[in-house]
Amino acid sequence: MNAMQCRLLTLALVVLGPLAACGSDDDDASVSATVPTQASCQQLSSAPASIWPNATTVVSAAAFNPAAAASGSSPALPEHCELTGYINKRVGTDGQSYQIKFHLRMPTAWNGRFFMEGGGGTNGTLSAGVGALGGAQTNNALAQSFATISTDSGHDNAVDNNPNAQGPASFGADYQARLDFGYNSYDQVTQFGKAAVAKYYGKGPDKSYFVGCSEGGREAMMMSQRFPTYYDGIAAGDPGMQVPKSGIGGAWMSQTFAAIAPNVDANGIPAIANAFTDPDLQLLRTAVLGKCDALDGLTDGIVDNPTACQAAFDPATATNPATQQPLQCAGAKTDACLSAAQITALKRAFGGPKNSAGTALYASYPWDAGVGGIAGTTYNQGWRSWWLGTYGATVSNGTRYTGFSAQSWLADYDTPPELIPASPGSSAIGTRLLAFNFDTDAPKIFSSTQAYPLSAMQWDATTATDLSTFKGRGGKLILYHGLSDAAFSANDTIAWYTAMGTAMGGTPQNFSRLFLVPGMNHCTGGPATDSFDVLTPLVNWVEKGTAPDSLPASASTPSYFSVTARTRPLCAYPKTTHYAGTGDVNSAANFSCQ
Ligand code: BEZ
Ligand code: CA
Repeated sequence: MNAMQCRLLTLALVVLGPLAACGSDDDDASVSATVPTQASCQQLSSAPASIWPNATTVVSAAAFNPAAAASGSSPALPEHCELTGYINKRVGTDGQSYQIKFHLRMPTAWNGRFFMEGGGGTNGTLSAGVGALGGAQTNNALAQSFATISTDSGHDNAVDNNPNAQGPASFGADYQARLDFGYNSYDQVTQFGKAAVAKYYGKGPDKSYFVGCSEGGREAMMMSQRFPTYYDGIAAGDPGMQVPKSGIGGAWMSQTFAAIAPNVDANGIPAIANAFTDPDLQLLRTAVLGKCDALDGLTDGIVDNPTACQAAFDPATATNPATQQPLQCAGAKTDACLSAAQITALKRAFGGPKNSAGTALYASYPWDAGVGGIAGTTYNQGWRSWWLGTYGATVSNGTRYTGFSAQSWLADYDTPPELIPASPGSSAIGTRLLAFNFDTDAPKIFSSTQAYPLSAMQWDATTATDLSTFKGRGGKLILYHGLSDAAFSANDTIAWYTAMGTAMGGTPQNFSRLFLVPGMNHCTGGPATDSFDVLTPLVNWVEKGTAPDSLPASASTPSYFSVTARTRPLCAYPKTTHYAGTGDVNSAANFSCQ
C-alpha cells in the first residue's frame, strides 16, 4: 500500500473498522483521521475480539481519564484513554489459571510514539502502564505524550501462587507460561498495543520504543533479537540476559558465604548474612577505593577506570588505607582487617560460579566502589542484600536463600521444574541451594523434555549477536549497566557487547552504545551518578540521528560522596570519564569522555 492509498483508507476508517494495514511505524505523521474521544475510547472495549491480531483478546475495561496534576514525585499526566484486558485466558497444565494481561494508555494529544515498559523479577504484576522509565527516574513516557503499554507477561503472582511450588515462581510448571514469560507475551501485547493505537488514532505509531531494566532489560534485548521489526529505539539497563546462569551464581554465593558463616540462623542453616559484618564491608569498599580510585586521575570516590581496577585489586594483597596494614589479618580478626577465610570467600564470589573442572558457569563480577558498604548510611543494605542479607537477622534472609534466584531458578529455569513443597523463604529452599551441585544441577538450564521442548537458555536468554535486522531498519540500542550490580554482572554485558560488535563487523557503535555506571548497584542506587534519562537520547538518536557519546547523569544520593550534588557524564564504552584537571569535581562541565 502506498502512502496515498494508506491515507485514503485511514480517512475512511471508523474506530471499529478493519485494522489499518498501514498502521506501521513508517506512516506519514501528518495523517490524523480519527479524533480520539471518550466515545471512541469506550468503543474499543466493546469491539469484537476478531478485530484484534489475536482473536482471544478481551478488552475488559476502558476509561477516559482527565488530565491529572503532578503529585509528589509523579509528573502531571495528560488526558488519555486507558484500556486493560487480557489475551489467551486458559487453565494451565498445572491447574492454575493464566492470561496475558495488558495495560494501555493513549493520550488525546499524542506525540505519535508507542512505548512499552519492561517488567522486573519474574513479573506477574500488571503495572500502572504509564511508561515507567525505571531507575532513579520519576518522569514517565505517558507524561511526555507517548502511548504507553505494559504486561504482566502471562501469569499473576496473586493467583499463580501455589505455596507448594515456590509461590509466585510456580508458573514455571506450565510450559506455555514459561514461553509467555520468556517472549510470547511481549509479542502479543506489542501487536495488540499497536493495533489499538491504529484504531484509536486512525494511524499507527510513527516510532516505537521499549525501555526496561533488569528482567525488563532482558526483555528489551529480546525485542531487538527476536522481534527486531517491532521497536525503533530500545534501552536495556542492567539486563538479565542470562538469568538461568546468574541464578546458578545465586547458589554459588550461598555456598561460598555459608562456608564462612559464623553461626546458624533460627532455621538451623548457616547465617550467610553474618559472614561479613557491616564494618567488614565498609573496609572492603575503602580497600577497593584505596587501590583504584586514583587510577582514573581523580580521587573522588568513583572508580572511572574499571579495567585498571580489575588488574590492580586483589583482596589478598590489598591494604587497609586507614592503617596502611594488609587487608588480610596477620593475626586475629579485627575490624581493621578481614580473615583469610573471608578473603578467600570474596575472591571465590567475585570470580563467579564454576564447575569442578573450573569451567565458568557465569561471568565474574567487577571490583568497584559500590561493593561493600558506607559507614553511617543505609547503603550497606543495598549491595549486601543481593549476596548476604541483613546482618544479624534471626532468619537468614540473604536474597539468594529466600528470594528470586532460590525459588525461581528451581521452578522456572531448570527443566523439568523442581517444585519444592515449601513456601518461599522457608529453609527448605535454602537447604536445597546449599546442596546445589555445579556439575549435575547447573546443566539443567540447557535441558529439555517432551513436555518442556525448549530449555530455559533457549526461551529466556538474549545473547544472540546478529542484530542485522534491527540495525538494518534503523534500530538504535542503548545499554547501561551498574558496575556494582550484584544481581547481573556488568562483565557479562561487556562480554556480550564485545562479541556482538565483532559479529556486526566491528562497528557496534553505529547503532548500539553501552554506558557503564561506576558505583551503581542494580538499576539504581549506590555511590554513583545513577540518575539519568535514556529515553530522550534514544529518541534523538532514532529520529534525528544524534548518537549519544555521553549521558548527563547526577547522583541520586550525593551524600554518599559527602556532597550536596554531583553531576557527571556517563561515557559510551569503551571511553571513560576524565577530569579536566581544574574546576569543580562535582560538575559534569569539568569532565570529558576519552
Ligand atoms: C530484576 O528484575 O530485578 C531481577 C530479575 C531476576 C533476578 C534478579 C533481579
Ligand atoms: Ca576516581
